[in-house]
Amino acid sequence: MRLGLLLTLPVANAFECSRAAFQGILPTNISASVAYATTVPENSTFQVPESNIAFPTSPVLLRRVCAVQINITSSASSAYSLGLFLPDEDEWNERLLAVGGGGYAGGIDFVSMVCPSFNNGNGYKLRTKAAGVCYGFAVAATDTGHNSTLEDGSWALDKEKLTDWSYRAMHGSVVLAKLILSAYYESSSLSFSYFSGCATGGRQGLKEIEMYPDDFDGVLVGDPAWWSSHLQPWTVKVGLNNLPTTAPHHIPPELFPVIGVEVVRQCDPQDGLVDGIVSDPAGCQFIPEALMCGSNVSFTSHSNASCLTGPQIETLYKIYGPYYETNQTFIFPGLLPGSENQWTNILGQATPNTIGTDYIRYFLFDDPSWNVYTYNFSVVHAADEAQPGNSSITNFDFAPFYRRGGKLIHYHGLADGLIPPESSDYFFRQLLKTLVPKGITVDSFYRLFHVPGMEHCTGTSSNAPWYFGGAIQANTLGVRPGTVSGTPGFPDAEHDVLLALMRWTEEGRAPERVVATKWRSDTLLDEVWRQRPICPYPKRARYCGYGDPDDADSWECL
Ligand SMILES: *[C@@H]1O[C@H](CO)[C@@H](O)[C@H](O)[C@H]1NC(C)=O
Ligand SMILES: *[C@@H]1O[C@H](CO)[C@@H](O)[C@H](O)[C@H]1NC(C)=O
Ligand SMILES: *[C@@H]1O[C@H](CO)[C@@H](O)[C@H](O)[C@H]1NC(C)=O
Ligand SMILES: *[C@@H]1O[C@H](CO)[C@@H](O)[C@H](O)[C@H]1NC(C)=O
Ligand SMILES: *[C@@H]1O[C@H](CO)[C@@H](O)[C@H](O)[C@H]1NC(C)=O
Ligand SMILES: *[C@@H]1O[C@H](CO)[C@@H](O)[C@H](O)[C@H]1NC(C)=O
Ligand SMILES: *[C@@H]1O[C@H](CO)[C@@H](O)[C@H](O)[C@H]1NC(C)=O
Repeated sequence: MRLGLLLTLPVANAFECSRAAFQGILPTNISASVAYATTVPENSTFQVPESNIAFPTSPVLLRRVCAVQINITSSASSAYSLGLFLPDEDEWNERLLAVGGGGYAGGIDFVSMVCPSFNNGNGYKLRTKAAGVCYGFAVAATDTGHNSTLEDGSWALDKEKLTDWSYRAMHGSVVLAKLILSAYYESSSLSFSYFSGCATGGRQGLKEIEMYPDDFDGVLVGDPAWWSSHLQPWTVKVGLNNLPTTAPHHIPPELFPVIGVEVVRQCDPQDGLVDGIVSDPAGCQFIPEALMCGSNVSFTSHSNASCLTGPQIETLYKIYGPYYETNQTFIFPGLLPGSENQWTNILGQATPNTIGTDYIRYFLFDDPSWNVYTYNFSVVHAADEAQPGNSSITNFDFAPFYRRGGKLIHYHGLADGLIPPESSDYFFRQLLKTLVPKGITVDSFYRLFHVPGMEHCTGTSSNAPWYFGGAIQANTLGVRPGTVSGTPGFPDAEHDVLLALMRWTEEGRAPERVVATKWRSDTLLDEVWRQRPICPYPKRARYCGYGDPDDADSWECL
């Protein structure tokens, strides 16, 4: 029984937060060792180990947790780490949340773990009435079995490490985390398990559903990098389309903003409302020739011009257009108009992004000296054949997850300049093609939301409402890393997609829309500027034609 305020003060658990205590409960059929288990006091900074080069930021913790890191041997040449933040028992919401990684990063993303481990008082079905922030989860993450930064895939020469990154580390971490929770929390037990991840994290969530449908009850995936064998070759191909930098067809990064301005000029009004936001980029008939230079611009002066030459326009078509093999076989969609602000990552360097080339060198051909200029379609065929690490999703039969009552929310920022949003639409169609013939009503367990104006996982360059509590989004809000959780000021399932997922999973109320928010300053969280619904695909938000367009209720999902 919980009575009055006194009982809401943090109470130490009977289970000690110490290395020895955790070491004592590890199962004997795995080889694992506890690196540390330490109590992090309320309002203090959790010092991330200096050796974590992937996610070096040390978050501020607003509530007390037991922080644990466990090293698990996965083969003779590989081991992965599980990181856990465990709130005190009376602050625990009896749920597990596993958070995903990003790119090829090898390291535990502690900043993404910190906030979900606290409850927000007004949150969802919390056991405690303690005031505070966040949700009250026990939170888990894995380093995915190697040590590297986001764009470095050279570790993948070791195929055991590759298997860890592809799926083994996440699954093993979830299984062990559940076991630990049952020992750590002595008088309460786990009721639901969730996942939240973006990009590689999104791929991890889908991979879990594909291979281990029992691991999670609810899965939240953003901008998923789910099709490794095509996405990574496309990353190389689209980069090569704009190279070498000395060629007449090269579009220098200085021109990306010029293109972006023209996209807004043409595509913003086409969606029915002039607000600087390209809400329907796939529906825009963008005419790049509007950027064509007149006779007074030469090749040598084109980098500081505000127009494009014929060969540059051809490159632009290749960036936006889908990538087909010569015989019309579809390989991958192109980037959408409105993504130009993020192009420097994969189009603005002297070589294609290593997210693409490292896949071919270290995942696929095991040849660090592979010359990127020898790239051709045969790479895609080789990748499809080999499926290195089995990192791609290839089995769209998510029926086992559906049958156990699992729920999947998937979203993609339409201004994503790293992973083409239409790869998410393609995934959506694969799921329909596989499950509809089985008599499954797909939208009863899976929904995809497009987010107009949102870049890769977080942020916007067009002041579009982009924030809804998606994976890693809170890390970019507020001034102190990790102190923001949920949707500040709107701690409810209408404005917070993780709460929406919980409501769907636990109460069966499917999200018909989620309201996204933009503050005047997303850092200061000063004043709410705009709120708009994001809608389950293929519906999209339409302005009703009257009312304040910055008010979510002036929009409908149609
Ligand atoms: C932590 O900070 C909050 C907000 O400033 C404060 O109310 C609370 O008393 C602090 N707790 C401790 C243990 O210092
Ligand atoms: C990761 O590698 C860097 C060097 O690249 C090293 O400084 C660091 O200690 C390593 N971290 C771990 C966890 O091994
Ligand atoms: C994990 O354990 C393995 C041996 O099983 C060791 O080689 C590796 O350095 C350890 N990793 C960490 C991060 O402690
Ligand atoms: C572009 O810049 C170069 C030097 O960076 C300069 O010589 C040239 O005149 C400039 N062209 C235009 C059209 O401004
Ligand atoms: C053409 O398409 C098929 C797939 O339909 C593929 O297997 C084949 O290798 C492709 N390429 C060529 C050059 O025929
Ligand atoms: C593509 O590249 C592979 C390997 O570099 C080479 O063997 C093959 O001949 C190339 N194919 C074409 C059509 O150029
Ligand atoms: C990938 O999947 C295939 C087919 O199921 C299997 O034979 C292979 O062992 C798997 N490889 C890895 C690394 O999981």
